Amino acid sequence: MQKHIVSAGSLVIVLFALISAPVPVYAESIQLIPTASDQNKSLGEYLSRVGNCMGCHTAKGGVSFSGGKKMYTSFGVFITPNITPDRKTGIGHWSKEDFWGALHRGESPDGRMLYPSFPYTEYTKVTRKDTDAIFDYLMSLEPVSKDNPSDKIFFPYNLKPLLYFWRKLYFKEGVFNPDNSKSKEWNRGAYLVQGLGHCSACHSSRNFLGASQEEKFIGKKMTGVSWYAPSLTSRLEAGSGELEINEITELLTSGITRNAVASGHMATVIRQSLQFVLPEDIRAIAIYLKSIGKENSDVASAESFPVLSKNIRSRLAQGGKLYTKYCEDCHQSSGRGIPGIYPSLAGSRSVTMASPLNTILSVMKGGFPPNTTGNPRPYGMPPFQQIFHDEEMALVVSYIRNAWGNHSSLVTEIDIERSRNGGRD
Ligand code: HEC
Ligand code: HEC
Ligand code: HEC
Repeated sequence: MQKHIVSAGSLVIVLFALISAPVPVYAESIQLIPTASDQNKSLGEYLSRVGNCMGCHTAKGGVSFSGGKKMYTSFGVFITPNITPDRKTGIGHWSKEDFWGALHRGESPDGRMLYPSFPYTEYTKVTRKDTDAIFDYLMSLEPVSKDNPSDKIFFPYNLKPLLYFWRKLYFKEGVFNPDNSKSKEWNRGAYLVQGLGHCSACHSSRNFLGASQEEKFIGKKMTGVSWYAPSLTSRLEAGSGELEINEITELLTSGITRNAVASGHMATVIRQSLQFVLPEDIRAIAIYLKSIGKENSDVASAESFPVLSKNIRSRLAQGGKLYTKYCEDCHQSSGRGIPGIYPSLAGSRSVTMASPLNTILSVMKGGFPPNTTGNPRPYGMPPFQQIFHDEEMALVVSYIRNAWGNHSSLVTEIDIERSRNGGRD
């Protein structure tokens, strides 16, 4: 269960280590004999990592778990509450039962229904034993007295009756039902992905009120923010059906492999949470992801692409010139990058998938893969939004989507404009 927190460079993690000092995470090395309650706390600490509670409940530069982080969504700005054991401003006066009510049913003990910006829609599948362990861990933290600022939720979503109807329509209290025809590992993976890991909070398409279509993992444009969370089932997007187990585990823990790199929100999820998940649990997650990738593999890729007109070929050639000038040093003329340093654009599903959004955002804003123990000093990519005007941006992105054997739709200036405005349709 012990996981040594060695990631450098992240203040949040350092703070976390300091705050969690009273919990005997290093019990082995200091020869303490852990009591059952201590063991529950360190299990709880681990599970809170898997659920990434700290990632949402910590403001930039704030004390871990004391809340105050702003979450921008198309429904408004949510500000996460303080979940340290302070009796007045945190959850210090809550019982285990109250805590279960929040995670399992999305109800606060003061009678408030909670918004699904808190992913209880997924956590509802977490077992009582696991929520109790998380509760014990949170209660062992230093209480922080910090009031919860109020959310700024847009009309009509701020009307509680709407939340009431939403819950009636879309929220079902869940239990995780193991599939006995599958292995123990597969079931553990399914439990983590569908429950604490709350992958479908981002990776499932949501209806207009923000309800995720359960367990489909079909990919969606994230609400309120620009990134597109690709399908975890389609082989044309981020389905793992054709990947080796160790390739999946490497991507989820280090953020970079020979063929893929995690960016944007996924980089954050890996930096804050997945890199700390135990090898046996990551393996279970990978086994589950591989199975859902296979079950739903689609056959579209073999379709032949039309012969490109002269005009289109000339536009792609213009994009190619920009590529040679600005990108080739890192991504190489072969488009294959340098393994583990600069990602390959040739054959990359992030680059060729139907939605060009993430690729446009990567080129506009640049970025870093997550810094993880497996990749402690990631190389970055510079932003190009100041260098290219929209037409050039469209040309270079169209080029990389169609060079080196890649085949994908061309990107227009309208696509670029849309991405600049947060990717709203
Ligand atoms: C994606 C961001 C996100 C994650 C991850 C997250 N939370 Fe929250 N949480 C929220 C938001 C936003 C609210 C407030 C919802 C509301 O106001 O209706 C909230 C509310 C809560 C509440 C209710 C507090 C109160 O005062 O009513 C508890 C308890 C809680 N979260 C615990 C957790 C735990 C434990 C985890 C990890 C297993 C977790 N949260 C992970 C965003 C998150
Ligand atoms: C906060 C939203 C969010 C959550 C939670 C989330 N993802 Fe993602 N994920 C994204 C986005 C956005 C992308 C696209 C960026 C990218 O490709 O790296 C992505 C990409 C991916 C990819 C493809 C990476 C690549 O580039 O090939 C995989 C695999 C993945 N996610 C798996 C998971 C799993 C498993 C979980 C749950 C443990 C999860 N994600 C939770 C937002 C999220
Ligand atoms: C200094 C080196 C460098 C240069 C120059 C550079 N890149 Fe990158 N590129 C990177 C790195 C490092 C990443 C991984 C960043 C991340 O994960 O956020 C990356 C990521 C990307 C991605 C996302 C790939 C994926 O699988 O998600 C795209 C697309 C991309 N670069 C295209 C370009 C284009 C087009 C240019 C030229 C206009 C360019 N890059 C110039 C280093 C570079």
